[in-house]
Amino acid sequence: MLRKIGIGVLVSGSGSNLQSIIDHIEGGKLDAEIRIVLSNNPEAYALERCTKHRIPTAVVDHCRFASREEFDRRVIEVLAASGVELVVMAGFMRVLSSEFFRAFPMKIMNIHPALLPSFPGIHVQQKAVEYGVKFSGCTVHFADEGVDTGPIIIQAVIPVDPDDTADTLAARILKEEHRIYPQAIQYYAEGRIEIEGRKVRVRDGRRMMESALHNPPLTRF
Ligand code: GAR
Repeated sequence: MLRKIGIGVLVSGSGSNLQSIIDHIEGGKLDAEIRIVLSNNPEAYALERCTKHRIPTAVVDHCRFASREEFDRRVIEVLAASGVELVVMAGFMRVLSSEFFRAFPMKIMNIHPALLPSFPGIHVQQKAVEYGVKFSGCTVHFADEGVDTGPIIIQAVIPVDPDDTADTLAARILKEEHRIYPQAIQYYAEGRIEIEGRKVRVRDGRRMMESALHNPPLTRF
């Protein structure tokens, strides 16, 4: 059996991605141990999920800090004191400072509800629907100092229907987020991830299928 990797999960809200990580750990599919769940929002529902599963939590309320750097320093302290080896941002709605990336170099993952590099930032499901893209999706990537710019680990592609609203699309994207995040963490836990500049290679991984995706589907061509 693999040694379990110690993760720290950063949350701000509902925590459905956190729940998926918990479920995959409890189901024996993800070789990780949640050392701490840290929220910047004292009201986050994610914290209640932790109580149910007896997972240690910390609240570091950004409103109580004079600067981003001071807030980040406190978050780094808490994560380090908990023995965190990999930081997992799961709906964490704060931009991190350089100090954070120096403290955990290429050891911070983020999930984003769009097919990066399209639609970085916020309200991205709405933006994808308004733009009229035929596919959107979700991306797990290593976080770097840019906004949603770091090396991409795994993506899921979701077809977009002309009748989709931001909510219907977000719900379908979220379902896939709950699959690809545990997978990305498991690749990391297995020590299979190699980073070459912007490219992430998963050693001994299966390669993607060769056929293209079309939306709407091709009828004659
Ligand atoms: C998820 O859709 C996640 O991709 C997104 O927030 C949601 C959190 O949901 N994150 C971002 O937009 C970060 N830029 P959850 O709290 O239920 O996991």
